[in-house]
Amino acid sequence: MCGIIGYIGKNPERILLEGLKKVEYRGYDSAGMTVCRGGEFITYKEIGEVSSLASKVKLNEQFGLGIAHTRWATHGKISLENTHPHFSNNCDIALVHNGIIENFEQLREQLNLRKIECCGQTDSEVVAKMFDNLSISSLRRVLKNLVGSYAFVMLSKSGDYLYFAKNKSPLYLSKGDDCVIIASDPSCFVGYSKSYIELDDGDYGKISLKNTVIFNKNDEKINKEEKLLDFDFLSEDKSGYEHYMIKEIYQSRIVLENLIKKYQSVGLKSKLEEIKNFEFDRVYLVGCGTAYHAGLMGESFLRKSFNIDIFCEVASEFKNKNYSIDEKSLCIFISQSGETADTISALEYCKEKGGKIVAITNVEYSTIAKKAEIVLPIFAGQERAVASTKAYFAQCTLLFILTNYLKGESYEKPLKSLSHNIDFGDDNILKKIAKQICNYKNVFFIGRGNDFITAKEASLKLKEITYIFSSALPSGELKHGTLALVDENVLVIVVATDEKLFAKTINNVCEIRSRGGHLVLVTSLFVDSDVEKNFDSIIRITNLPNTLMPMQTILSLQKLAYFTALEKGNNPDKPRNLAKSVTVE
Ligand code: AGP
Ligand code: GLU
Repeated sequence: MCGIIGYIGKNPERILLEGLKKVEYRGYDSAGMTVCRGGEFITYKEIGEVSSLASKVKLNEQFGLGIAHTRWATHGKISLENTHPHFSNNCDIALVHNGIIENFEQLREQLNLRKIECCGQTDSEVVAKMFDNLSISSLRRVLKNLVGSYAFVMLSKSGDYLYFAKNKSPLYLSKGDDCVIIASDPSCFVGYSKSYIELDDGDYGKISLKNTVIFNKNDEKINKEEKLLDFDFLSEDKSGYEHYMIKEIYQSRIVLENLIKKYQSVGLKSKLEEIKNFEFDRVYLVGCGTAYHAGLMGESFLRKSFNIDIFCEVASEFKNKNYSIDEKSLCIFISQSGETADTISALEYCKEKGGKIVAITNVEYSTIAKKAEIVLPIFAGQERAVASTKAYFAQCTLLFILTNYLKGESYEKPLKSLSHNIDFGDDNILKKIAKQICNYKNVFFIGRGNDFITAKEASLKLKEITYIFSSALPSGELKHGTLALVDENVLVIVVATDEKLFAKTINNVCEIRSRGGHLVLVTSLFVDSDVEKNFDSIIRITNLPNTLMPMQTILSLQKLAYFTALEKGNNPDKPRNLAKSVTVE
């Protein structure tokens, strides 16, 4: 997914590093920077996080042009040779890239015929090697040959311009009093400028301190409106917590209060009203990973209230399923970042078919927000840890609000009761179970109804940050195959908060116990001593009405994953191989 930044002005090294830190959520496999001063390039590359690069970079206050990159590898191993910036064959042009060039092998073969060799395996380097000079016409020529997604920033040893191009990956420009910044995320402009330009797909051009030239996809020179940088970019610190993840779990309480307050406003109520007035006969909920799990919860909330077809689908599979979308389809896209490529692609598909597009997102300036007809913000504040926690809590809460609004029922009263009774679990018990989890190679989560959805999200959280294999199943499904894996080396975490489904789940618990499997129970219900005997431990949480339990139960399970990651010595904020914003399909 990569984060990219370009800069012209004084202090380039410092400002590029500062920007890289802000876009590091987009990937942290390796980082690199090239600064041009007096016709010479100075380049730094390091494997790992931006902090490794920062420890090597020599700061220099003098004026210069620079580009920098933090990589999430898509093509080519994590190595110095694949770390951006990449260079043209004559080494006079440097390029950083976010995206995937799908026809790079073919382009590489064409270069090879011209005796131009790449040093590494990335698709991005192939593009750098296609340049022999840097000008609008050479950029236009190269772009015409590319298939795929990209945000590029380039500079040459001899020029005073940064060149750029965008297609499907985000890219923004901004001019300060005496500097120019180009970046994957407008948060990089904070402190340097009050406005920015948002590039559209197909845009390309060049920018210097004095001049900005932008062309659109039809090669027409265009002027773009400057937007005010008026988002809330409060770059949150850890506020005394050891990691962002644990801070963000605890922020769920504030997020809930925010949601209750914000959704009292006339503006947001009118958006809910617009959805209510839309005569839909089908609802689609679409997202990836954690956002998909929130979608499943939304599906469950809506199904219990409306007798129409409601489908929840993983964004990357949406187009393969041949759903019948038309003017009566309400299509709800859930995405914390609003930049997830799979979700954007499904959204565009539904838009083409005439569906009504609603976005549930945490980033109001994101691509998904821009493409949607109605945006329902989740007001969770910036989420820094890669593993989503408070955003999931907020997405489920918002889907609860939407369902109740559509039904004509109050959401404020029940949410206030959640706020009063919110329960983050008992740290001592969670830490004890976290230690126990480290002894297992395989962990299963089981549940029925909404508890199964919570089990899926808890399992994803555990996998993401502990690297322990885990899988979630409906409790009743275990005996249809997976039970074959159960023995004394397996831990099963049972989520059971629904009184009506409890007895059947306990039958499944006995089946696991009989095969020697170890068990942990997560429950808000009274458990009698006969049942209790089956479990190694019990995580007890405060009981609430069933519809509120999904928001309540996940909090302890997020913390369980967090404590397990700590036990394993992992950094829960930056799990290996993952990135916060997944902008490739
Ligand atoms: C969450 O913990 C994961 N990192 C991941 O599943 C994430 O939810 C998914 O990639 C979707 O992201 P989005 O909400 O920004 O679209
Ligand atoms: N494809 C490029 C690489 O692997 C960029 C990756 C990205 O933007 O995700 O280096």
